Amino acid sequence: MTTTDTPGGTGQARSYASVFDSPVAGTWSAPGRVNLIGEHTDYNDGFVLPFAIDKRTVVTVGRRDDRLLRVASTFDEGVHEISLDELDPSAMSGWSAYVFGIAWALSVAPQHADAPAFTAAGGDVSSIDLSAASGLDVFVESDVPIGAGLSSSAALECSVAVAVTELWSLEVNRPTLAAVGQLAENDAVGAPTGIMDQSASLLGRADSAVFLDCRSLEADVVDLGFAAAGLEILVVDTHVEHAHATGGYVDRRASCERGAEALGVTSLRDLDVDDLPRASDLLDDETYRRVRHVVTENQRVLDTVRTLRTEGPAAIGALLDASHVSMRDDFEISVPQLDLAVATAQRSGAVGARMTGGGFGGSAIALVPSDQRDAVAEAVTAAFAEAGYTAPTIFTVHPAEGARRES
Ligand code: GLA
Repeated sequence: MTTTDTPGGTGQARSYASVFDSPVAGTWSAPGRVNLIGEHTDYNDGFVLPFAIDKRTVVTVGRRDDRLLRVASTFDEGVHEISLDELDPSAMSGWSAYVFGIAWALSVAPQHADAPAFTAAGGDVSSIDLSAASGLDVFVESDVPIGAGLSSSAALECSVAVAVTELWSLEVNRPTLAAVGQLAENDAVGAPTGIMDQSASLLGRADSAVFLDCRSLEADVVDLGFAAAGLEILVVDTHVEHAHATGGYVDRRASCERGAEALGVTSLRDLDVDDLPRASDLLDDETYRRVRHVVTENQRVLDTVRTLRTEGPAAIGALLDASHVSMRDDFEISVPQLDLAVATAQRSGAVGARMTGGGFGGSAIALVPSDQRDAVAEAVTAAFAEAGYTAPTIFTVHPAEGARRES
């Protein structure tokens, strides 16, 4: 990969036309996501219930007459490039690795055709062949906040994935594209994450959540009905930075694998709450609490889906609250800022609240009656000021449609 500075500068003035000469072939977009419930269950073959949000990454793409992939964006000054003949994770770094990683993952997908994510996704990747694919110019713009735990990375991967598969005429279904995105993130970026974020970004529907079984990759659309119930999701971005390629995320994943092995199951998905007494006898206290989080969280996802379908969103508050307690005390992935955001929202009118995403920073969500939204936001802002924390950014998100062609 090489990087060069080009005219055009940074900021809003920078555009596709200020950087690239090739004619525009189209514009595609993909959203970030909020996970309503089901945290650290995806890589345990469990259940998740995320929704795509109305914050999107947009890529404008043109065909080149050589084999170069070139990318530029509004958020740095460079133009990053790699040859389609030299795609390799070792040649990728920084944010452009998410873009190049998608091309690399597509190019090696045939070698992974038997991997569980690809077989469950049901799309045949064995004949993907990029040997005659044209190079592309890719310009990226985004209003998904970076580092807020709202999957700006999946939004980038998925917007690129839908663009390149169309331009390269590849027949790849959406669940398979999610597996391609996960492979890019795991092996090109180096973060051992699950398949939730890409699935939400690719499969999301307006006013709905994606109920995904991460083992079978069966996805159901679940109507959220927030607006009809007079409810909204408030996001509190704590500005505490997290990274999933290092540290806690990697450790938690390893604990889950250790727990599954000690209990003689393929993954923690194979356990339910009735197995917990046996787990408690066999495991050390810390591993037991990690396992208990995953097992109870899977059950909370199922309970949330049932409650949404039978009683509506106003009835899911206690499940959101219980999920946060489990992440705070058993999985130990919260931070004081997230706990304060959650507790303050709960005290000042939220129906329920929890941290969302991988943890160790990022955002909390609160399900709030629309007429109390401002009061909850003000209470959280005041609590952060009183605690001496950096002021959070607080905003509303709406469940939105997944990746699509814009023009
Ligand atoms: C991050 C990962 C996801 C998932 C969540 C935790 O967002 O990218 O795959 O593991 O953390 O639920």
